[in-house]
Amino acid sequence: MKIYVLDAFETSGIQYLKERVPGVIPFGDPRAGRWHEDADGIMIRGRQLSADDFAKAKKLKVVSKQGVGIDNIALDAARAKGVIVCNTPGINSDAVAELAFGLTVAVARRIPEFDRRIRAGEEIIRPRFLGTEMAGKAVGVIGMGNIGVRAARLYHQAFGCRLLAYDPYAPADAWADLPHQRIADLDELWPQVDVLTLHVPLTDETRYIVDRAAIGRMKRTAIVINVSRGGLVDETALCEALKEGRLFGAGLDAWEEGEPPQPGNPLLALPNVVATPHAGAGTHETQAKSSLAAARQLVHVLEGGEPFHRVV
Ligand SMILES: NC(=O)c1ccc[n+]([C@@H]2O[C@H](COP(=O)([O-])OP(=O)(O)OC[C@H]3O[C@@H](n4cnc5c(N)ncnc54)[C@H](O)[C@@H]3O)[C@@H](O)[C@H]2O)c1
Repeated sequence: MKIYVLDAFETSGIQYLKERVPGVIPFGDPRAGRWHEDADGIMIRGRQLSADDFAKAKKLKVVSKQGVGIDNIALDAARAKGVIVCNTPGINSDAVAELAFGLTVAVARRIPEFDRRIRAGEEIIRPRFLGTEMAGKAVGVIGMGNIGVRAARLYHQAFGCRLLAYDPYAPADAWADLPHQRIADLDELWPQVDVLTLHVPLTDETRYIVDRAAIGRMKRTAIVINVSRGGLVDETALCEALKEGRLFGAGLDAWEEGEPPQPGNPLLALPNVVATPHAGAGTHETQAKSSLAAARQLVHVLEGGEPFHRVV
């Protein structure tokens, strides 16, 4: 059995593989480039797997993806070739939800902006840099899955926020224990929210779910948080609105181009943007758990077991 590890992983999963499988090619090994020749299984995180990769893979049976997002994998090509693709949903929910919450407070209270100005030795005339409070505000949550519910709970429990939730695919009894209003039409959502937080996968349906028109209908005091995927928000329209004071601010962990985004990205020139480099799941706890889960699932499926979380 030959396993290739094609991204950098926290060590617990790699240790697990090495203890069970003699043929593990670790990330960074010069032999990794020839995985198409003889890999039975591969373990990945954000690496792109194209249709061409699947076409070239001679023995591949299983792709084990750490994390939940699978938009980096050509799933149709995997399906056509009979390759099993599995992921590790749920494990990173606390970490990603906590980052969404943290970004919200950072934007609302201008924490990184103050920090930058203090370090630069600037005079800060405080009435010119007022923040906004979260207590009792309306939080719009798009996507009522694992991360969406964790984030919603944090806003509700910490600040008593009013929750407005949109997810046409979530069952009617989703979030039964969490006070919220279910929104059926996004057009109703935009003008109501003080904070908008996105927790949906990137699909043809969700691409630019927050487009120019949506941004145009939001309050000037609203905050946009994207810890999900670049491509959900029209970054050009967002940038213009933030620059012109038509939104209060944005906290972004997911970017349309480059993660981390390139220094020339105009959003990075705005003081009301707080940027992180797709670090939502980047905690010691989550990385250890999900690296191990991805490794366990890979070995289990290669040994003939049913995947715990099958995507394809
Ligand atoms: N920043 C990070 O490091 C990081 C880490 C993990 C996941 N993510 C992102 O977070 C997303 C959510 O993760 P999750 O674990 O909560 O996934 P999940 O599958 O548990 O939840 C996704 C939810 O989105 C809903 N949905 C799908 N299409 C929709 C649409 N068109 N409109 C509204 N809702 C829709 C689904 O019904 C589901 O309830 C992932 O897809 C991924 O893109 C980011």
